[in-house]
Amino acid sequence: TGGQDLAGRHVVVSAGGTREPLDPVRFLGNRSSGKQGYALARSAAARGARVTLVSANAALPEPAGVDVVPVGTAVQLREAVLKAAADADAVVMAAAVADFRPAAYAAGKIKKKDGEDPAPVALVRNPDILAELAADRPRPGQVVVGFAAETDDVLANGRAKLARKGCDLLVVNEVGERKTFGSERNEAVVLGSDGSETPVPYGPKDDLADTVWDLVAPRLAGPPLD
Ligand code: PMT
Repeated sequence: TGGQDLAGRHVVVSAGGTREPLDPVRFLGNRSSGKQGYALARSAAARGARVTLVSANAALPEPAGVDVVPVGTAVQLREAVLKAAADADAVVMAAAVADFRPAAYAAGKIKKKDGEDPAPVALVRNPDILAELAADRPRPGQVVVGFAAETDDVLANGRAKLARKGCDLLVVNEVGERKTFGSERNEAVVLGSDGSETPVPYGPKDDLADTVWDLVAPRLAGPPLD
């Protein structure tokens, strides 16, 4: 679908999961493979967009014709996304970004000590990149899309998250055995700030990616500026 409806547009997609280091060998992370974000990048490129893919720890082949920016942590992902977003028509945040990171980084490997209980890990908040993007759009009319992986009260939590984050579209996917994290397939409802709800049936992550761009394309304001 879509033809070349993103020709002349610059879009930014984040993919994968951030890793927040504790010491040189350990991190706090999540189960994102990057597959959904990479599918979004491939789909946008096929529809004619210039694509910047900010990729956090994904072990996937680079999509042809896509500018891939590798990052590790949430702070690095924020920097790369904000930089690329400066002249972007749309930003889609498919990455699973850690809400918290360890307060301290140990320069040497943390050792266990005989007879001592482990020290608790203190955490500090990471910046909320999606909320920041939605609040300070560097380009007027820029379309900002978030994802939400939920386990309970999926739609109600999704609606609340859409309002809280202030984005235009929120792709709500339920965490499950054969969808969302790590899987080849997904199932979702795309919520719009205009009250719209677009269900996407269980299928390849490429199908959900195409539907996201189907919904983004008509929301892009005016002709391409690039
Ligand atoms: O990578 P795959 O294995 O293919 O899996 C795909 C996916 C499940 C990771 C993807 O479909 C997905 O749902 N991504 C969002 C995961 C998530 O849990 O998001 P969240 O509910 O924690 O965050 C909501 C939104 O805010 C997301 O767009 C996220 O990128 C963004 N966010 C979150 C925290 C933060 N500090 N900054 C952010 O910008």
